[in-house]
Amino acid sequence: MSQKELDIPTQLASRIDELALSVACQPPLGESAKEALKTEIKALLKAQNAQIVAHFYVDADLQALAEETGGVVADSLEMANFGAQSDADTIVVCGVRFMGETAKMLSPEKTILMPDLGATCSLDLGCPAEEFAEFCAEHPDHTVVVYANTSAEVKAIADWVVTSGNALQIVNHLKEQGKKIIWAPDRHLGDWIEKQTGIEMLRWQGHCIVHDEFKTFELEAMKKEHPNAKVLVHPESPADVIALADVVGSTKVLINAVKTMDDQEFIVATDLGIFYKMQQLAPNKKLLVAPTTDREAACKSCAHCPWMAMNGLQNLADCLKNRTGEVLVDEAVRVKALGSLNKMLEFSRNAGLVKK
Ligand code: 13P
Ligand code: SF4
Repeated sequence: MSQKELDIPTQLASRIDELALSVACQPPLGESAKEALKTEIKALLKAQNAQIVAHFYVDADLQALAEETGGVVADSLEMANFGAQSDADTIVVCGVRFMGETAKMLSPEKTILMPDLGATCSLDLGCPAEEFAEFCAEHPDHTVVVYANTSAEVKAIADWVVTSGNALQIVNHLKEQGKKIIWAPDRHLGDWIEKQTGIEMLRWQGHCIVHDEFKTFELEAMKKEHPNAKVLVHPESPADVIALADVVGSTKVLINAVKTMDDQEFIVATDLGIFYKMQQLAPNKKLLVAPTTDREAACKSCAHCPWMAMNGLQNLADCLKNRTGEVLVDEAVRVKALGSLNKMLEFSRNAGLVKK
């Protein structure tokens, strides 16, 4: 199988790196400023019948606030399911753009806000809809499976949307039906799925700038220093890093591993925002960030997604107060994408992966 034609152009890859490096994180706040903002946000949520749907990678204050106010902190699959089932009038998505778009596509009647609409994802950026549509058109006999980390326009081209929480099950289901598959955009997750299922897919070659930085050489050294530590890896990481893992899975799977395994020490190869939930569920366990730099390279992400870091208490309060940062999706695109999104949710509910 030739994957050359799927490679993302070097120019696009460097543009993504440039964008990631230019992102401004939220400035740190003092304790009293934090408390004042939390009080303001709580009142705004109540007055607007609004809920926070947050990802495990955002700032710990936002995760705590979501939990305290009847919202949710979850992986991207559960975020989509929670939003679709919520009876709030407004949902504030603390995460990245594709999560906001997914919420809007599933609940067009709700107002979906985000603290910063510029919070994107390198996988989304690395899979432009026009080029992807051209590629799919060249392989009309293939079922198109796209990761949730894509634009609404890419989802509108797809037959199925998956997340790391259901990709294995859905690809296995398609394999049983004898389908040929186009997979986009994450090359490492695609490679891991191929190895797990034994199916060969035509793969787009996108990557996550955070997980792509985890390094084998240093991870091996860390394992030697901490011989009792178990290694937890998100499957957006490179294959040689995954090969060193004791547990591979979505953010939810990794959190569950820390909670349920008897081991006391874990090396975690995913965004360090996840430590909030891990530490909450297992306060006495020791968590170490997997190494992200090799001997020569400079770290682009340092195990923290620059776009997730754009979410903070101040811009969360601002978007609620001023009703700004509204996520809008073209109706024709939404209707096309809804089929693949609903199929994903229905499959996941029937498989017991999320609540019915
Ligand atoms: P999860 O679906 O596992 O939450 O992952 C989303 C993501 O963006 C990981 O980088
Ligand atoms: Fe995208 Fe990676 Fe950030 Fe997840 S961590 S949102 S895949 S850039």
